[in-house]
Amino acid sequence: MFSMAAICCLTSCENNQRNGALYLDESAPIDSRVEDILDRLTLEEKVALCHAQSKFSSPGVQRLGVPELWMNDGPFGVRSEVLYNSWTKADTNNDSCTAFPALTVLASSWDTQLAAKYGQALSEEANYREKDVQLAPGINIFRTPLNGRNFEYMGEDPFLVSKMAVPYIRAIQDNGVAVCVKHFALNNQEYLRDTINVEVSDRALREIYLPAFRAAVQEGGAWSVMGSYNRFRGQHCTHHEYLINDILKGEWGFDGVLISDWSATKNAYEAAMNGLDLEMGTLKPYNDYYMADSLLYLVRSGKVPESVVNDKARRILKLNLRTAMNRNRPWGSFNSREHTDLARSIAEQGIVLLKNDGSLLPVDTDKYRKIAVIGENAVRTHASNGGAAALKPRYEITPLEGIRARFGNESEISFARGYSAYNYSLEDGTVLPSQYDNKKLADEAVELASESDMVIFVGGLNHNWHQDSEGYDRDSYGLPYGQPELVERIMEVNENVVLVLVSGTAVDLRFSDAVPAIVQAWYCGSESGNAIASVLAGDVNPSGKLPISFYAELEDCGAHAFGPETYPGVDKNVTYTEGIYVGYRWLEKKNVKPLYAFGHGLSYTEFEYGAPSVNKKTAGRNDVVKVSFDLTNTGKMDGAEVSQVYVSQVNPSVDRPVKELKGFAKTFLKSGETASVEISLPVGEWAFWDEASDGWKLEPGEYVISVGAASDDIKHTLNVTVK
Ligand code: BGC
Repeated sequence: MFSMAAICCLTSCENNQRNGALYLDESAPIDSRVEDILDRLTLEEKVALCHAQSKFSSPGVQRLGVPELWMNDGPFGVRSEVLYNSWTKADTNNDSCTAFPALTVLASSWDTQLAAKYGQALSEEANYREKDVQLAPGINIFRTPLNGRNFEYMGEDPFLVSKMAVPYIRAIQDNGVAVCVKHFALNNQEYLRDTINVEVSDRALREIYLPAFRAAVQEGGAWSVMGSYNRFRGQHCTHHEYLINDILKGEWGFDGVLISDWSATKNAYEAAMNGLDLEMGTLKPYNDYYMADSLLYLVRSGKVPESVVNDKARRILKLNLRTAMNRNRPWGSFNSREHTDLARSIAEQGIVLLKNDGSLLPVDTDKYRKIAVIGENAVRTHASNGGAAALKPRYEITPLEGIRARFGNESEISFARGYSAYNYSLEDGTVLPSQYDNKKLADEAVELASESDMVIFVGGLNHNWHQDSEGYDRDSYGLPYGQPELVERIMEVNENVVLVLVSGTAVDLRFSDAVPAIVQAWYCGSESGNAIASVLAGDVNPSGKLPISFYAELEDCGAHAFGPETYPGVDKNVTYTEGIYVGYRWLEKKNVKPLYAFGHGLSYTEFEYGAPSVNKKTAGRNDVVKVSFDLTNTGKMDGAEVSQVYVSQVNPSVDRPVKELKGFAKTFLKSGETASVEISLPVGEWAFWDEASDGWKLEPGEYVISVGAASDDIKHTLNVTVK
């Protein structure tokens, strides 16, 4: 059945056929064009669309001129080329990209406009490299600081992740490149990721683990989604009846392509029937993929209706028309000055000043003439490691290079490695011991510290396996390679220590009580060292805030409060017993103080919050409550403040978190300047998932609106009644 538009399109296409190729009427609606192509395909051609033809591409239809689809990792840049049929790096010279900061850094900026700029620049790099689908963003929730892939994600709060992901997605797709939002769903640990089965309540699923995916689809309009490796309630997520058929494609109306994670497909019938559209990465010859000859057999033998294959082909053709066949796609640009400048500015906006007693930061070079830079992360680059997110950056400025460039003219900069990481040989997994003698390194560092005016200790984690790395979780919460002991020894000879942490997630910082200043520098990509140096110097006033909780101890995290059943799981089952109480929700429920709270981040200036007011004291489900307040920069430096609004229900009929993030705004203010800040809160978003009625429920009654600078720094509260 075709609509009039489709018939016109068909007729014009038929008239325009040359040697079997399509000359489509590009003004016809996309769905008509899809139907037009679909109608010309044989069953074999439709099935061929549904599986890979190389490591990162799927076939088009050669006979008709429908192009191939080229996919590429990842969230922080356009990954280097691999050989056609393997993971082996291709020896190409034209694929050294801009390494943008990790998504954790972007999330720490709390700047939605910056997220759009990030997406825009990434799509330009993807277009230049002729990639149709960018395997990004990663939006799984930080459930435990031990998850090896946290650095690829955007933190622990579903509201923040949603708000940051949507502009990034829209900007990428505006340029004719599809996103592939990953990893759907509940991929919250790397340990046993291929087989682990997650048991979680419907409520936690809906309130914590799915909202960012829903926003990506419904608000971002994502054109593809990647099914994850893990299982949920016994079924693999890449072909999960409830998650994909019922929720993603049913409830949310997703009209894009569900792509498997690489080798996550396990069963032909289930994959066919449960919504998988495009199978990638299965470790078999392409015809032996589940969605290749087996699918053909299932259709021919009547076990799977052809309409199921038609639906998949339709989605894939639509993706193709949106990307590869989109003639309005710009050419893009690669490694431009604009991109590296943006990479630097994202890093500068995302670095978080965790602690500052004011004695050391910003660095006063008149006072501190001899600066010792200590720690392996001062000289280590990171963007080229970590798994699928690894890039081949054209360059990466190390912290030592950045510090030398910024302070070298005014101060004397010396370096001592201090400690050294073991290394993994990434080819075969062998652990290669460090080439250094760690005792000697530590002694040299302590000696250098004793002769210096101040120490910048650049430590943290790296992308070795069992640290911030795909495929493995961290072994422990502590900092590796003897760093805590080394910092303590340094503090004995020189108390002027700034700790710069390069890591994608929270670490145990109990050793740092006496350290005067701590900077969370994450993984900042190409311009890493320059961004760190500008924050240390005060050229940039830090404004990043934590998208995660920095637990004092690992056991303070809900996922670790119940024993191995809740992490890392027993007999390949992991139960999310903490339910909706993830991150600060758990800490606040248990009244446990983190070392640094969700939303925390200091500045070199101070901000004063005026008393807030709301546009309505009584509101209905479809109303938007607008909270307004004056924000004044009362300090001496220009700077930016991320104001946060949390909402709590006063007497809920079910247990609810103490408070939940429901709005935020980042405001740049000159010293002495006041701005009126307005934050919109759609009341419908205050609902909880009601398991009894299997739906969202907004209860009438009193709600408290808390306005603050962090989850543990609430400045003012006021009440609103929901009718
Ligand atoms: C990762 C995905 C990635 C894919 C392709 C998988 O191992 O989980 O995030 O996009 O490989 O590289």
